[in-house]
Amino acid sequence: MITRADAAVFLDRDAPHRWNPRDRESLEALRNKWQTVPAAADGRVSTADLASMTDAQLIRYWQQQVLVSTTGENYSVRGWYHDLYKDVLRGKRVLDVGAGMGIDGLTFAQHGAEMMLLDIVPSNVANTKRLARLLGLSNCQSFLMEDIDSLKALPRDFDVIWCQGSLINAPFEFIRAEAQALLEHLRVGGRWIELAYPKQRWEREGRLPFEKWGEKTDGEGTPWVEWYDLEKLRAALAPAEFDVALAFDFHNDDFNWFDLVRRA
Ligand SMILES: C[S@@+](CC[C@H](N)C(=O)[O-])C[C@H]1O[C@@H](n2cnc3c(N)ncnc32)[C@H](O)[C@@H]1O
Repeated sequence: MITRADAAVFLDRDAPHRWNPRDRESLEALRNKWQTVPAAADGRVSTADLASMTDAQLIRYWQQQVLVSTTGENYSVRGWYHDLYKDVLRGKRVLDVGAGMGIDGLTFAQHGAEMMLLDIVPSNVANTKRLARLLGLSNCQSFLMEDIDSLKALPRDFDVIWCQGSLINAPFEFIRAEAQALLEHLRVGGRWIELAYPKQRWEREGRLPFEKWGEKTDGEGTPWVEWYDLEKLRAALAPAEFDVALAFDFHNDDFNWFDLVRRA
């Protein structure tokens, strides 16, 4: 079955995308869902609920999430790349797109990266801002993406754009428009690092339409989840071109990983 998003890749690859009212609806649907962010110990948690914790409770809670997400059986999901990238990212200017509760972004800041934690949900942004302050991280800022235009306010010279499970949650045309706006802020030689879900997983889980597959992969109320492979990611990033440092599926094809280097 070819979906609307598949068709966009193959039929509409070179057409410019204009931000339209449907995109605004997509963003609102995403906001409704994603104020509940991934948490290791208990699956998912509402950042609005985290706001009612005391400072001490929040720090303890966040540290526990990082520990559980990166060790034991979760080492093969998240721990391996924390180990690999904490040294790679030290001293780099990194834009974490869809930072959630900052399991990646705040951890990399603790290891010396200059982090900008972007999210589309105000309570997620407030939460990472509060955590950065509580953890004493002066090298970490938070940024609310109100719409694609608001990305213009970001610095233009990031070394790395880091997208961990965030640019798979909306139709391809929307994601391509967002990726194009983000690329304005990535220097030549900089890296686009992304975790997505492979096509094999979509096939294995029944080839559901993307508006239904999200409920299966990321729980109730997920408006959209779409598979990516290298070709489709390149289509979202084109005309910018990239060399491929890494591109592989992992964790029984549940996830895929792309580490791309921007060409001149
Ligand atoms: C699956 S969660 C991943 C969170 C975090 N990266 C992590 O590894 O735990 C997706 C995150 O991306 C954000 N998000 C969803 N769609 C987005 C988009 N189009 N642009 C930027 N962020 C988005 C959500 O608010 C949420 O925080």
